This record gives sequence, C-alpha cells and structure tokens, in this order.
Amino acid sequence: MENSSSYSDQKSDSLEAGNGSGFKVHVFSSSSELLEKLHEKWSSVKKQPYPAMYSSTFGGIILDPAIMVIPIDDHMVHRGHGVFDTAIILNGYLYELDAHLDRFLRSASNARISSPFPRSALRSILVQLSAASQCKKGTLRYWLSAGPGDFLLSPAGCPTSAFYAVVIDDDFSQCKEGVKVVTSTVPMKAPQFATMKNVNYLPNVLSKMEAEEKGAFASIWVDEEGYIAEGPNVNVAFINHDQELLLPLFDKILSGCTAKRLLELASKLVQQGRLKAVRNTNLTVEEAKGAAEMMFVGSTLPVLPIISWDEQPIGDGKVGELTMALSDLLWDDMVAGPEVQRIPVPYV
Ligand SMILES: Cc1ncc(COP(=O)(O)O)c(C=O)c1O
Repeated sequence: MENSSSYSDQKSDSLEAGNGSGFKVHVFSSSSELLEKLHEKWSSVKKQPYPAMYSSTFGGIILDPAIMVIPIDDHMVHRGHGVFDTAIILNGYLYELDAHLDRFLRSASNARISSPFPRSALRSILVQLSAASQCKKGTLRYWLSAGPGDFLLSPAGCPTSAFYAVVIDDDFSQCKEGVKVVTSTVPMKAPQFATMKNVNYLPNVLSKMEAEEKGAFASIWVDEEGYIAEGPNVNVAFINHDQELLLPLFDKILSGCTAKRLLELASKLVQQGRLKAVRNTNLTVEEAKGAAEMMFVGSTLPVLPIISWDEQPIGDGKVGELTMALSDLLWDDMVAGPEVQRIPVPYV
C-alpha cells in the first residue's frame, strides 16, 4: 500500500534543494531498508484498518498491510483490466457472499479474465481470509485481474490471472438521515461497461466529486434516452404516488445485489398492503423527480433516503416512511436473515 511519508520526505528534500536540480533521489540499498520504510507509515496508525489481505501472487493470506503490494506490470494496474466486488461482514457473518461472487464471475467473464481458481476455491479463500482478519464488522473487497506480465496492451504476456482481497474494518449502521443528490454531468459508461463491475471507475469518481462540490452526497446518472440509471456506486429506487416501489431496469447499469434482495423482501410490504407493487421499469426524469420517496440502495447502506434532487424536494422533503420500512427489512435480513444469505465466518 502507498507510502506517503517517502513522497513528503522527497518533497521537502526538493524544496531544500531550491529548483530541485540538486535533488538526489534516495536509492534503497536493500529490501530490508525498504521494508523498514514501509513499516514507518503503519507504526503511527492507531488501529490497523486492513486486518487481513490475500494475494494469489504471494499465494496466501498476509496480516501486514505494509507488504500488501500489487505488481506494477499487472494488467489491472496499468490497463484497467480487472474486475472487483464486495461483501459485508456483519456480526461475524458474510452477507450475500454468493450473490456477489456470482456477479464477480460474470464480470470476469465479460472482461475476458479467467480466474486462477474455481469458484469454490475463491469462496473458500474469502471465508478463510475473513476468519483470519478476526473482523466482525467491515467490508470484504476482492479483485480478479488479468495478472502481471508486461506493459503491453494485449494480456497475452500475462501468463496467470491474479486474485487479490482485503478485509476492511468498517463501522457502518442503518442510515436514518436523508441526503441531497444532483444530476451528473459526467457521461455514464456504455452498457457493456456499466453492467460489469470492472475497475474503470473514473466516471464514477468524477461524478461523486461533482456531487460533493455541489454540497450533495452523490449524483444520479440519466441515460441517453432520458431514463434514470444509477448513482456512482449505488442503485436508486423510488416510491411513486400509487405506493409502487420502482427501480430502473438493470440492462444498462450494474445489477445491484442489494437492489435485487430489496425487490424480493419488498413483497412483504405488498402482502401487508403498505405497497401496491414492486417492479423494474424505465423511469423518466420527470416521473422520478415527481416521486413520493427516493432512496439509494447498495451494500453498506443498505438504504439511504434521498430528500432533495437538484435542490428540489422529493415528496415532502422528509425521509420517507416506506423508505425506512424497506431499510428495516434489509437491515433485519443482514442481521438475522436466513443462513443462505448469511455465511458464518469460522473464526479460530
Ligand atoms: C455502479 C454501481 N451501481 C450499483 C452498485 C450497488 O451494488 P451492490 O448492491 O451490489 O453493492 C454498485 C456497488 O457495487 C456500483 O458500483
């Protein structure tokens, strides 16, 4: 992982050297000297945020973040030829790992990356990694890359694909406050790329930065036909004035594991008569802005109420009742749902 102290040291050295012409780059004389430098950064960190990591290029789990490095000639690093996915760890259970793994392998196949291991081995590595981390609440992130080899465009010189994973200690809780959103001016990705979770998130990053600069939490993408798409790393859902839960179709956006689970769970509110229907549909900006309630849906949220869009209130401008009912359904599922959804982590 990045070593910021060496950069700042060099910066001050270069300032001392005036125009920088006399600046001498340090040459590490040995790998143990470098390792010492890498450890410097982490020695001042109070709580290690990455309790366990895995790299197939190392061939195992490591507990020292200073040495979790990725080869610079990895096709994912210099060409963006990689895919990723996540899952959350809550109360010692991995939530929806199988749904995320299925999407991960679909993304890999669309990116023409073949996994170095079969699905069962990938799953087992992730479960063992979570156990080694001792983390009870956090996120698990993992990547499949075309792998290291050379710096060419073709991955032909990358003999073995690579699998990397990190457990991140994270304290998330149910979101109860509403947030503001804006319409993104950053063009959204073409469907071929938006439907697979590949590492090319530059449009997503820029659209998030745009929202933050405008005092909003995130932005909403609208597709070329004028239909609502998604947020930069979240899906979006609406309740219309006929008490229907509406989500954009997944044909041009990422099919969210949380959004799909929400569609299943929401049928409970239909049975109770609180919702009339639940469906995926094309929604115009006008229909969406005129909704009674609006929310983001995604893994760590799991539901985040939206109360204003482009400075216009959504509904009455307050956190929606049905939004919170849906949030409760998902949160209960994460905390105490069926074991097919929640894999117990076998901590030792
Ligand atoms: C672009 C995008 N859309 C939607 C989502 C929500 O998906 P999930 O519910 O699986 O986290 C994500 C996050 O993974 C994302 O990156």
